[in-house]
Amino acid sequence: MTTSSNSSNPSQAQTSGMWGGRFSEATDAFVTEFTASVQFDQRTYKQDIAGSIAHATMLAKVGVLTEQERDDIINGLNTIKSEIEAGQFEWRIDLEDVHMNIESRLTQRIGITGKKLHTGRSRNDQVATDIRLYVRDEIDAILKLLEKLQKGILRLASNNTQTIMPGFTHLQTAQPVTFGHHLMAWFEMLVRDSERLIDCRKRVNRMPLGSAALAGTTYPIDRAFTAELLSFEAVAENSLDAVSDRDFAIEFNAAAALIMMHLSRMSEELILWTSAQFKFVNIPDRFCTGSSIMPQKKNPDVSELVRGKTGRVYGDLMSLLTLMKGQPLAYNKDNQEDKEPLFDAIDTIRGSLMAFADMIPALVPNIDIMREAALRGFSTATDLADYLVKNGVAFRDAHEIVGKAVALGVQESKDLSELTLEQLQQFSDLIQADVFEKALTLEASVNARNHIGGTAPAQVAAAIERAHTRLEKLYA
Ligand code: ARG
Repeated sequence: MTTSSNSSNPSQAQTSGMWGGRFSEATDAFVTEFTASVQFDQRTYKQDIAGSIAHATMLAKVGVLTEQERDDIINGLNTIKSEIEAGQFEWRIDLEDVHMNIESRLTQRIGITGKKLHTGRSRNDQVATDIRLYVRDEIDAILKLLEKLQKGILRLASNNTQTIMPGFTHLQTAQPVTFGHHLMAWFEMLVRDSERLIDCRKRVNRMPLGSAALAGTTYPIDRAFTAELLSFEAVAENSLDAVSDRDFAIEFNAAAALIMMHLSRMSEELILWTSAQFKFVNIPDRFCTGSSIMPQKKNPDVSELVRGKTGRVYGDLMSLLTLMKGQPLAYNKDNQEDKEPLFDAIDTIRGSLMAFADMIPALVPNIDIMREAALRGFSTATDLADYLVKNGVAFRDAHEIVGKAVALGVQESKDLSELTLEQLQQFSDLIQADVFEKALTLEASVNARNHIGGTAPAQVAAAIERAHTRLEKLYA
């Protein structure tokens, strides 16, 4: 990074080559640095170059550029792309942003033709286009990661349709569920996340280019043609809106915040489940770290970090919303502040999903310990109540009867299934010997919830089947 302006002696400094005409002194060195975005927007170089190539192609089609000029520009831009990718490109902070760095280098390489590229265009529609292309690419990459994670969850779930664990409400043991069913709850959250991104992508995928600075341009441009070249679904309809709109970034960040919220909830469960108190699952060592002082420790760092990073992505969303709330039409320099939060959200979500897509399918459930936990905590109490209802008792009365049986269990430190038939019968003579296999065993409990959305192993297996088809449709 170099700066060419000199704040101590502005009169001798060069004014910027990009707008020097109107200026009588150079920009202050600090102001140059303060107003620059190239430090962070250089990551959009690919999109910037793709946008410029499409723009030049369109300009040649409508006769504003000759074919020779178009080809020189395209070749020049492709060479610059290689330079950037080889790490040979000198990013100059005095050239403010990715757009002017690339344009200036183009002119350096191909001469005066380079100066024609910006005809009928402004950095305002250029940057809005670049960011949309960038977010579009990132959505596609994030969808791939989500798909990988979703498929990993399906694999783990299909191995655990019969694995029984306690289900919780208020984090108190509630009713037995299958581990597969629990995993499929995660799956549902993540499917909604994909649906949201796919929907968001439609509004990302509209092209601002052609709006120029704010009002459109006097050249006979063909926006539909440029849009087609860049695979945009449509052109943005209003030039004032197109250069200033960042809804798409906010919408994306909102979807990202929801993804992080889901990963954070999953993290919280993993952190609980791997604790010595639960021991429901093991996370392979490669996803954990130890303690420098306590030799026994194996910490679920990935989960904790993802839970922690969720806050950043919420923060990014708040930054973007607040950035936009006071802006009059059309472009304002404020808009340059869209990038860092947006990029931070993207990086965070990608890293978190990458870690989860590897870690989740590698989880190892401790089946015996889960089962043992489900046997504790009177998890089949509702089943006993349902048993009584099926034998003619009103539900509220059944609730009362079972409550008394539970109280006895608490007193004797025994689960309902460990009480004798005689003990149970003192609360209702409708309780018969079949109560154990019909209501009080874990298998009876989960098997009985045998409808779509229920925890019965057969239902979970069917849900997994449907899930494969749903994914195929979703990513078609
Ligand atoms: N670096 C600017 C941004 O990120 C590009 C557009 C600047 N346009 C302008 N007229 N200053 O938003």
